[in-house]
Amino acid sequence: MGRISARIAAVAESATLAIDAKAKALKAAGEDVVGFGAGEPDFPTPAHIVDAAVEACRDPKTHKYTPTSGLPELRSAIAAKTARDSGLAIEAAQVLVTNGGKQAIYNAFATLLDPGDEVIVPAPFWTTYPEAIALAGGVSVYIDTDESTGFRATLDQLEAARTPRTKVLLFVSPSNPTGAVYGRDEIEAIGQWAAEHELWVLTDEIYEHLVYGDATHHSLPVVVPELADRCVVVNGVAKTYAMTGWRVGWMLGPLDVVKAATNLQSHATSNVANVSQRAALAAVAGDLTAVAEMREAFDRRRQLIVKMLNEIPGVSCVEPEGAFYAFPSFKAVLGREIKGRTPSTTLELAEIILDEARVAIVPGEAFGAPGYARLSYALGDEDLERGVRRIGDLLA
Ligand SMILES: Cc1ncc(COP(=O)(O)O)c(C=O)c1O
Repeated sequence: MGRISARIAAVAESATLAIDAKAKALKAAGEDVVGFGAGEPDFPTPAHIVDAAVEACRDPKTHKYTPTSGLPELRSAIAAKTARDSGLAIEAAQVLVTNGGKQAIYNAFATLLDPGDEVIVPAPFWTTYPEAIALAGGVSVYIDTDESTGFRATLDQLEAARTPRTKVLLFVSPSNPTGAVYGRDEIEAIGQWAAEHELWVLTDEIYEHLVYGDATHHSLPVVVPELADRCVVVNGVAKTYAMTGWRVGWMLGPLDVVKAATNLQSHATSNVANVSQRAALAAVAGDLTAVAEMREAFDRRRQLIVKMLNEIPGVSCVEPEGAFYAFPSFKAVLGREIKGRTPSTTLELAEIILDEARVAIVPGEAFGAPGYARLSYALGDEDLERGVRRIGDLLA
């Protein structure tokens, strides 16, 4: 009998961890490191949200548990916000407030999957999904996407991945790490395909408000209403309101799924911190001014980072249409000598870039896409320019 259960021992160490730990250690030692790793806005949480939390802290009512599923007024406000922002009509009872979007993903897969059930996971994917699927006993079936389709999965690819064991399609738009945004027609075709084959869809809409240029976010169960009874939507306040540290997300879905997931959460973590829920209430009940301002800054940085990356020999980057990540290819850099070292993987390249240029990027291996790397552009304009210039100087 092992000291660690087989189930938990199989959880992969995050491929980002080593480089992140190294970057932090260098920073702590006083080194000037530019970090493109963090998936969080560099803005503070808007003042009216912080004020609501301060007020909540002083109110003894807030010092108590809330129902596991969340404060009733927050669940209602999330239902109203969902109708306002994506056009999806749901009742408050269909909302489970979770510790970030991350717990919503964990809860959803744990609630939907039996051992051996398959989930179609388009790659590049955010690192958490395969682990949440595996912890639920599910099996990830990957589809590779690349620049040729703007990192969007095609219907043919989905159909080729479907088997009698397929239960869920994971659908993420805008995507972390690629910034890909699916068009309405593509969503309609994918949704109808899922409905036809009676698949479930977990759709992660956490970047719904961060779309640029002509891109528009469409919610899958709105475009294909017949899927609503087999669709779980994940969302949260982290990215929209610069609230990553407050840990408030939610899942929306059919009543039976939400009820079962609430039972799970009641034994795992109970309610999300009451004060954080009050802050989230102020966020979702308020307007979208703050996110409009952040979006403007992100859009400017997006254009700058894509332009600068494409000027580096051997680096090519398609323009992301959403979220706040650039996902350039470094394939033409691999095998080249850089300061006496010859990287054959982006994992090695990221290490060299950190060692030699003091810039932290996340290698594509973390997202099931070797040859690429993710750079978050949710950092200050000056840091962004400085960081990419350093990579350019190193690879010139
Ligand atoms: C696609 C996606 N979904 C969900 C999350 C979870 O966010 P949180 O748990 O901070 O709400 C993230 C965070 O990076 C993300 O990128």
